[in-house]
Amino acid sequence: MYVHIGFIGAGKVGTAFGIYLSKKCFKVTGYYSKTFESAIKASKLTKSTPYKKLSNLCCNCDIIFITTNDDEIEKVCERLVQENILTKGQIIIHMSGASSSKTLNKAKTKGCFIYSLHPLQSFADIDKAVTDLENTFFTVEGDKERIDVIENILKKLGNEYFVLSSEQKSIYHATACVVSNYLVTLIDYGLTLFDTIGMEKDKGFRALYPLIEGTIKNIYNLGPEKALTGPIARGDVDTIKKHIESLSLYAPDKVDFYKILGKKTLELAEKNKLKDKNKIKELKEIF
Ligand SMILES: NC(=O)c1ccc[n+]([C@@H]2O[C@H](COP(=O)([O-])OP(=O)(O)OC[C@H]3O[C@@H](n4cnc5c(N)ncnc54)[C@H](OP(=O)(O)O)[C@@H]3O)[C@@H](O)[C@H]2O)c1
Repeated sequence: MYVHIGFIGAGKVGTAFGIYLSKKCFKVTGYYSKTFESAIKASKLTKSTPYKKLSNLCCNCDIIFITTNDDEIEKVCERLVQENILTKGQIIIHMSGASSSKTLNKAKTKGCFIYSLHPLQSFADIDKAVTDLENTFFTVEGDKERIDVIENILKKLGNEYFVLSSEQKSIYHATACVVSNYLVTLIDYGLTLFDTIGMEKDKGFRALYPLIEGTIKNIYNLGPEKALTGPIARGDVDTIKKHIESLSLYAPDKVDFYKILGKKTLELAEKNKLKDKNKIKELKEIF
């Protein structure tokens, strides 16, 4: 029976996930952090114990989350092994999207089970993170033997999840980065183009935001293929030619990006609305 949950690293995710667990009737045992102040703060919010000594936290917990910044996870795990403070059968989890449970491999020499449990969400502050966790999708990967323990926690929390293999973790993380980070890049591309016609970025953002929001809602309701509208979906070849002409004139360094995404958008349009073979051929040549 795994019931004593401890955290090493009392930052945003460690604290917010601890509060979330407490709210859903799990008992958080306590926190150890680089600074004792952070451990005190997180333990007050979770009615748990702040630990000054790592060994004391570890001997009181059967599930240990390492929620430090990514670069520290492996070092903390090595420290747990070197100081001989792990117990056979303990479950060690990190919450990073960037690496698999293999980061915790050293803990296996002590008979522990290792996992990565990643909330697919961006957490900028603790209060908002606790609210956002309700609708957050998780992925989990690691040792097969006790994965049911993690799955049961997620089921009790009421969060949807997906089990990955260690090899799949990197493609999963790349996907999350493309969708989140490249979306930011795409919006900045648009704002820069508006700038070329004299619309400063703040105003440009206010102008574009309802369009962005409407598009996201359409994707949510219809899926990407059906959500696609605009000249490529309609096969309006002359419009696309005009776009490229004016981009070449006002922002020549932005043409390549337009064409690369145009090519990808054409592939999407072909899956749904665009069936005219001549127009598809012409657009392919333009891009
Ligand atoms: N933030 C996000 O959006 C997000 C989303 C999904 C997953 N994650 C993952 O969640 C994990 C934590 O991220 P975060 O955003 O919560 O980071 P964070 O707010 O920077 O917190 C990291 C905490 O780790 C503590 N720490 C650093 N080195 C330590 C050590 N050697 N021993 C003990 N404690 C140590 C720090 O303690 P002190 O405060 O005491 O200095 C700090 O509070 C990362 O693996 C990250 O990839 C983050």
